[in-house]
Amino acid sequence: MVVDTHCHLDKQYYDSVEQLIDEMKDNIIIASAVDLKTTEEVVKLCNKYTNVYGTIGFHPTELDDYSEENLKKIEQHLSNPKIVGIGEIGLDYHYGKEEKAKQIKVFKEQLLLAKKYNKTIVIHSRDAALDTYNILKEVDITNNKVNMHCYSYSLEMAKEFKKLNIKFGIGGVLTFKNSQKLKDVVEYLTLDDILLETDSPYLSPEPLRGKVNHPINVKIVANKIAELKNTSVEEVEKRTTKNAIYQFDLKI
Ligand code: NI
Repeated sequence: MVVDTHCHLDKQYYDSVEQLIDEMKDNIIIASAVDLKTTEEVVKLCNKYTNVYGTIGFHPTELDDYSEENLKKIEQHLSNPKIVGIGEIGLDYHYGKEEKAKQIKVFKEQLLLAKKYNKTIVIHSRDAALDTYNILKEVDITNNKVNMHCYSYSLEMAKEFKKLNIKFGIGGVLTFKNSQKLKDVVEYLTLDDILLETDSPYLSPEPLRGKVNHPINVKIVANKIAELKNTSVEEVEKRTTKNAIYQFDLKI
């Protein structure tokens, strides 16, 4: 069994979401929202399919429909047992530099929600390593489980995030030719630090790079990790699945 701990199942990306979920039967999908509309879609999918769980919230570059009122609407879904985390939330200074202050405000509000409901936190962080780190320290997330999705920073930062007991979402980027920095991080981490993810429909692994990504391709990522860590795919799948079940408190 494998768990794709982070992907997007919005129907406009795929020929058939149903088929995508069927490809993952006997496996688990954790679908991520990025705003209110996708939160409501994720909740529907979670209620319909036993192997789909969800995380909900406002992504840092998707703040157009953010309001106190809409955040309240998202909060109402946090008591749904299939909603296993808040995410993806965080900071993105690559695309959203001019909205820094707003991003930080919304990030902090959602971290407080995660604390209030004791939910796992799924972080999106791009070109914002230090601010992300400092906010996590400031808000004090030590009682929450935290996952840095699509980890893209240095080995040095990985060591600091690991000290905060944060887990690392590793996906298709690991299979790219120019991903030495991430390969160094994966070699440093233990299997207990790693969560498999695809970030579908984005970031298809080699040799599918450029195509629409599917959650089942998480197996290609597992293969690559096995190769880098000189272990079996079975071991990678077993250990990362155990991590995911623990990290998201999955009742399976
Ligand atoms: Ni994502």
